[in-house]
Amino acid sequence: MKLVPPSEAAQLSALRELAAELPFASNEQVVVDRVLGVLTELFPNRAIAIRVFDVRTREPGRAYVRNAPLRDSIANEGLVISQHALQRARLKSAVAASARVLVRERWDSPFTGMATGFAIPLAAGGELYGVLDVGYTPGEDAHEQDEPAMASIASGLAFALRTIRLQEDAIGLRDYQARLLDSANALILGIDRTWRITVCNRALLELTGTTRDEVLGRDVRDFISGDQRQAITTAFSAALSGQHHAAFTVMLPTFKKGPVRSVWSIAPVGRAGQPGGPIDAVVAIGQDQSKIDLLQQQIVRAERLATLGELAAGVVHELNNPLTSITVYAEYLVRKLEAQGIEVADIEKLRRIGASAQRILRFTRDLVQYARPSGKETENVDVAAVVRQSVSICEHLVERGGISLAIEIDPQLPVVQAVSGQLEQVLINLITNAVHAVEASAPHVSEGGGRVVVRAQVQEPSELVIEVADSGPGVPEAERDHIFEPFFTTKADGKGTGLGLPIVRNIVDQHHGQISVTRSDLGGAAFRVVIPIV
Ligand SMILES: Nc1ncnc2c1ncn2[C@@H]1O[C@H](COP(=O)(O)OP(=O)(O)OP(=O)(O)O)[C@@H](O)[C@H]1O
Ligand SMILES: [Mg+2]
Repeated sequence: MKLVPPSEAAQLSALRELAAELPFASNEQVVVDRVLGVLTELFPNRAIAIRVFDVRTREPGRAYVRNAPLRDSIANEGLVISQHALQRARLKSAVAASARVLVRERWDSPFTGMATGFAIPLAAGGELYGVLDVGYTPGEDAHEQDEPAMASIASGLAFALRTIRLQEDAIGLRDYQARLLDSANALILGIDRTWRITVCNRALLELTGTTRDEVLGRDVRDFISGDQRQAITTAFSAALSGQHHAAFTVMLPTFKKGPVRSVWSIAPVGRAGQPGGPIDAVVAIGQDQSKIDLLQQQIVRAERLATLGELAAGVVHELNNPLTSITVYAEYLVRKLEAQGIEVADIEKLRRIGASAQRILRFTRDLVQYARPSGKETENVDVAAVVRQSVSICEHLVERGGISLAIEIDPQLPVVQAVSGQLEQVLINLITNAVHAVEASAPHVSEGGGRVVVRAQVQEPSELVIEVADSGPGVPEAERDHIFEPFFTTKADGKGTGLGLPIVRNIVDQHHGQISVTRSDLGGAAFRVVIPIV
């Protein structure tokens, strides 16, 4: 059977059909199937293969075939092309030089059992997207007429493949850019010329507790509260008119932490390739300052501590010996004078001397404790045991005040890395405060009512929570920031030194934890210590 080429009219109508359909094809498979359908109809009894690959990568190509089997290894092979075809394809030099393009005059058949045929490179815009191979059974070579007749269909196919590749690249690039913005360790916001938000990265969404759908396309000014409006709109306006603006601070309303201080710099984005040209967008990059603020506070505290520590060490050293003498001798004299029947009032005075000296000793000890709570290695600590031990140390206080103290411990409490003596101190301080608070609010609690609860439990994902709650008057809102400062006390003169909570906070800091105070379910204060379980 003699192979004949299709008529000009048939070729034209096929081309017209493809030109109308291919722009709507959404993927490679659809494009290639359609072209193969047209080719097998126009050119029956030929083996036709279309291979699609990217010469810039080493990835295997994809092969589509009609009317003959392909060789097994074909997907990994490149393109063998004649000098003449190479010139006609007008490939970019980098593409032509690719290891996957081999120049050879003899056709390299992709089919099994077929030695005659030809290949047309699928080239568009200087890039190579694959190859179209046509093979003939022995004695049926129609190469001369087929090749020119197929050339225009092949170039239509190349263009369609190019469009699909560009589309995929564009989507890939867009996703890549989005991932890049999202994983950036900064808050990123972009607006267009009409103030609409076009970019809002994950860090910013998470901090403000909003979703992308809620912000994209909205006017950025909708999100700025009254007192900051002026400064921010000025900065954005300046950027929109092409000026760079100095960094500025914004109190950002956040989802979890209340307003957070953030520092922003703003930059205008001009049109590509037109420096000094019109501004298309404005990008604002911000940094959440709350962590830095927190660190600064810690540094200030640490500095204060260091100073106090030196002072304390000196004071303690100077005071300890004379104070010990005073207490010991006062006690000795009390006992001696009692035996001698001396006036009760005088003995009482002597007792007060001893008690006062005792208090000074305790104070100096606390001072040192505050300044230097550390010095011990952490160990595996059984928190339940520490809680029970601390409660038992405070027993006399609790009993004296006629207070009911309950312990609620999660039976699944894990072992925690901590300094057990320090945890004990945290608990003793908190329990003592709770007992004092309950006593102060109801002097006659012995009739029942004063309550303190010590709780220890695990909180997701891996935190230990210790809470001491009481039924006292609670801590007034205005004092909550101050109670952790050294020497802040509301207790009557001489009753409290105001070092308990600062010591507690130091210890909690050293355990990388946090302490906070809220209103308790018992009506009074609840001190909550959260320590990470490592
Ligand atoms: N459970 C509580 N209920 C109400 N107020 C509290 C409670 N715990 C602490 N406070 C307030 O915080 C202040 C500071 O407590 P802190 O333990 O630091 O010092 P203090 O108890 O006054 O003295 P000390 O150094 O003897 O502990 C207290 O004076 C009290 O006003
Ligand atoms: Mg206290």
